[in-house]
Amino acid sequence: MSLDIPVQTDRQLGLDEFQELFRDGKYDARDSESLKDAAEILLALGNNKSFLPDLIMKELTDDMSGQRDNFYGPSVIKLGHPTDSTVMRANIWASATDEDYRRSPNAFIYGVPHDHNFNFLTVGYWGPGYKSRYYEFDYENVEGYTGEEVRIREVAFKSLGLDSVMLYRAHVDIHSQLPPDKLSITLNVMESGPEHHYKDQYMFDGEGGSVAVVLSSRCSPNLFEVAASFGDAEIQEALVFISKRHQSEYTRACALRSALRGAADEDEVERLVAYGMNSNCGGLRQAVHRFLAH
Ligand SMILES: [Fe+2]
Repeated sequence: MSLDIPVQTDRQLGLDEFQELFRDGKYDARDSESLKDAAEILLALGNNKSFLPDLIMKELTDDMSGQRDNFYGPSVIKLGHPTDSTVMRANIWASATDEDYRRSPNAFIYGVPHDHNFNFLTVGYWGPGYKSRYYEFDYENVEGYTGEEVRIREVAFKSLGLDSVMLYRAHVDIHSQLPPDKLSITLNVMESGPEHHYKDQYMFDGEGGSVAVVLSSRCSPNLFEVAASFGDAEIQEALVFISKRHQSEYTRACALRSALRGAADEDEVERLVAYGMNSNCGGLRQAVHRFLAH
């Protein structure tokens, strides 16, 4: 399961102090083992129950200037970048009776098993904490297309309690969260580099037996669709190239789907259909099936 980190300290750190120690300690959020070693200083930041109210107060009186590059949505307060490959945020977890949750339940992905395409270390900062059902899976065995059957193993059911620290490993740990009994806040230190945009993240169906949604922060699938609509031969060639060579099978399948729609004639459609159907990538075969079904 996501790793409980058995760490204790009475020390308290401010946010700037934490970020300086994170840099000085050369912790690397891209490496889960290295990130785990930052557990004690994260707990020390979590012990400081005044830094976040102070930061919120400052934001409220300063036109939210520190949140202008916060693209995570209203349940997140961005806490800055300790390094180029790390971002920090405070996550707000509404309870089922909170106004926030009742007004926009879809803003919280409760009850949906999902993995993460980034490592993150988290500490329960405020409130009783959310509960999760935890699973593990073999990311390398997943091609990554909607409906694909995936074997996931349930390993635990627990709360992320106040002042407890956990490590979520990219592409290993899955959790399905339940709302906390009372509004809760966690502090997260997360991997954040350009490379993680090329790694897929999955939402699984309610039982966790198949991929329900491939989450992607990439703009490429939308761009492929627009590009294919131009009917330009060079663009078409590029889409076919991507469908054959891209490192992400999800991206390859999206490129093939668009290339099929943008094909100049029946001969090209036939060639692309044959390529997709003979591929050992399930996502490509599915892209062909979906194209032929329409
Ligand atoms: Fe999550």
